Amino acid sequence: MFSTADVTETYYFNRQSVNYMDAFQQKERTRRIYNEVAPFYDRLRLVCRRNDIPYVLELLDPQESDRVLDAGMGPGIYSFAILQKHQVGQVVGIDLSEQFVAMARKRAARKDYSNCEFKTADLEQLPFEEGSFDKIVCSGVLLLIPDQNKALKELLRVLRPGGKIVFVEPLDKVFIAKECFYVAAKMFIKVLAVKNRRLRGLNRNDFAGHYFSEESLSRLLNSVGFNSVQVIRNGVEIYGICQK
Ligand SMILES: C[S@@+](CC[C@H](N)C(=O)[O-])C[C@H]1O[C@@H](n2cnc3c(N)ncnc32)[C@H](O)[C@@H]1O
Repeated sequence: MFSTADVTETYYFNRQSVNYMDAFQQKERTRRIYNEVAPFYDRLRLVCRRNDIPYVLELLDPQESDRVLDAGMGPGIYSFAILQKHQVGQVVGIDLSEQFVAMARKRAARKDYSNCEFKTADLEQLPFEEGSFDKIVCSGVLLLIPDQNKALKELLRVLRPGGKIVFVEPLDKVFIAKECFYVAAKMFIKVLAVKNRRLRGLNRNDFAGHYFSEESLSRLLNSVGFNSVQVIRNGVEIYGICQK
């Protein structure tokens, strides 16, 4: 369904070693594309995957004094759902995209939430002390990360002993609706790029990355050093629930 170039680029994520410059450039492309499509993504996100929010909150189970990290938060769908529905100590959201961070800050100010903080940061180098968070949600991000091991070790480092991380990743099986969505998104980006030169030369991997199977996600999460790892498939997504 995608061009040979797209398929070849997908293998980029399967390589054993990660070249520093390649990784830097890949992250820069991801940052650029999400900065440009942030307002569209914000509107589409709720329409496309509204049902998964209560499921993720149930898995995460935020408690009253919890400090929760939304890692690669995008528009902060989970951050705001937690702030709205749960009494928690604090929600912290980080993302590579400055546009998403600005949007989340504005939304928090509009809703008068004071127990939250949003900042730009790279998942591979988190600006937090060891054991800073009780819970972490990380949705649709691992698939975009060039050095997934490094990112996972960072998440494990900032999680407190006994803390929990919930990962959400798209399943690698072909589903007509999902493939149609990505083809439409790819064409949409091409159309936007006619007017917006910052979008030129970006491709599917810069916003959709590499999908996981239940086995490959399980293998990756089990390689990092969590105390327990559970992988569940639910519809077109897979959920990794990890305890430190
Ligand atoms: C598919 S969106 C998912 C956003 C949100 N978690 C959600 O479920 O709607 C992927 C997000 O990950 C962010 N991202 C990608 N690589 C990142 C990295 N290395 N560090 C921090 N954020 C990253 C992107 O900027 C983008 O906002």
